[in-house]
Amino acid sequence: MIIKTAKFLISVTDYKKCPKSTLPEYAFIGRSNVGKSSLINMLTNHSHLAKTSGKPGKTQTINHFFINENWYLVDLPGYGYAKASKTKQVELGGIIEEYITFRENLCCVFVLIDIRHEALYNDLQFMEWLGENDIPFVIVFTKADKLNPTQIAASVEKYKTVMMETWEEMPTYFVTSAETKQGKEDVLNFIGKTNSGIKK
Ligand code: GTP
Ligand code: MG
Repeated sequence: MIIKTAKFLISVTDYKKCPKSTLPEYAFIGRSNVGKSSLINMLTNHSHLAKTSGKPGKTQTINHFFINENWYLVDLPGYGYAKASKTKQVELGGIIEEYITFRENLCCVFVLIDIRHEALYNDLQFMEWLGENDIPFVIVFTKADKLNPTQIAASVEKYKTVMMETWEEMPTYFVTSAETKQGKEDVLNFIGKTNSGIKK
C-alpha cells in the first residue's frame, strides 16, 4: 500500500466528537513513550504529522489522521504514565476505553510494545480487556533499532512465551522501528488487506 495523502483532521477528548464516518479506522495504543506518534509519522512519511516527544505523556487526546482520503489512523494517549496524576490517568483511561468500545468503524487496535521491555502487566491486562470485549488487535513491537537481530528474536520469543500463558495463539505481530522504517511495508500491507476485506 502506498500512502499518497495524510491529513491531520481533529484532536478531541470525547469519542462522540470524532469524525462521523464508516470508513476503516486503525488506532495506535500503548504505554506512554512507546513510540505511537513516531510510528504514525514513519508510516505516513511525515516527520511532524503526529506530535512526538522525548518526555512521556505527550499525546493526551484522540487524534484523527485521514489517509488516502479513505481510511483513518488514530493516535491515542499513552497509558501507564506513572508521573501523571491519578486523576489524569483515570481520565485518559476513560477516554481510551470509551473510544475503543463505541467507535464503530474501528477495525483493529495496534498495541505497541517496546521490544526491549519484558512483558508488562498493564499491556497484558489491556490486551485481555480487548479480548474480553471482542476488539481485534495486533501487536507492534517498536524501537527495533535499539537491538540486534539476535536480541530481537529472543525478545519476541520471550513475549510469545508470556502470551501463551493466557492466549491460545500469539496474536499477529510486527517488528518495527521509526528510525530505520523497519516493518513499514508489513504494517501497511496488513492495513491494505484489512481495508480490502472490509470493502468487498
Ligand atoms: P506519548 O504520546 O507520550 O504517549 O508517547 P508516544 O508513544 O507517542 O511516543 P513518541 O512517538 O512521542 O516517542 C517517544 C520517544 O521515543 C521519542 O523520543 C522518539 O524519538 C522515540 N522513539 C519512537 N520510536 C522510536 C524508534 O523506533 N526508535 C528509536 N530509537 N526511538 C524511537
Ligand atoms: Mg504520542
